[in-house]
Amino acid sequence: MIPSLVVALDGPAASGKGTLARRLAEAFNLAYLDTGSLYRATGVATLRAGGNPAHESDAVKAAQSLDLSNFSPADLRTEEAGVAASQVAFIPAVRAALLDFQRNFAKSPPGGKSGAVLDGRDIGTVVCPDATVKIFVEADLETRVQRRVKELREKGENIIEARVRADMQARDARDKDRSVAPLKPADEAFTLDTSNMTADEAFAKARAYIESKIKR
Ligand code: DC
Repeated sequence: MIPSLVVALDGPAASGKGTLARRLAEAFNLAYLDTGSLYRATGVATLRAGGNPAHESDAVKAAQSLDLSNFSPADLRTEEAGVAASQVAFIPAVRAALLDFQRNFAKSPPGGKSGAVLDGRDIGTVVCPDATVKIFVEADLETRVQRRVKELREKGENIIEARVRADMQARDARDKDRSVAPLKPADEAFTLDTSNMTADEAFAKARAYIESKIKR
């Protein structure tokens, strides 16, 4: 079956795309894949095996033998996992090892769903260039730092704001400057800047945009 609706949501860390993707998947009855979790799991698996996420052979080995059932959501949402994820994501062979899983998810969404929402950095440009709808979710650095600090503190992580800011700047730079699948809007993507929006406002805008695309 050809999926009826594939929504590609890309954007930097803490731009609000995860929350938005989850809500859109529910509203349109689509399967949801957080592709960042694949890179996070690869990063954590590399660390668990005693490897270095920045070393190609360690990271590729982890990506090729990835078993998502070994990770709880809490294992993957730490700041350490985010940093390791952006290091493994920099390595082209890691990206190649994770590509089929993502494409198959979009092509044959699980749970009998007729379509899928995928969020990440390169969904509209590389993973699903034929997606029905492409949205690039942005927010300025300071807004994203404050969102991430709040999220981590609510989880009880003892974090230093300046460290979160420095990590985010380093991750932004790694995500944007890498040679393979850098973070950038697809040519035809709708850009949604959530800096001054509530989650509800971002959702309403994205939903209206998707509805306008599928009515045509
Ligand atoms: O969205 P996130 O913070 O969970 O992503 C973690 C890291 O994974 C991020 O720094 C970049 C990388 N990533 C990627 O390179 N491509 C994707 N499609 C998703 C995430």
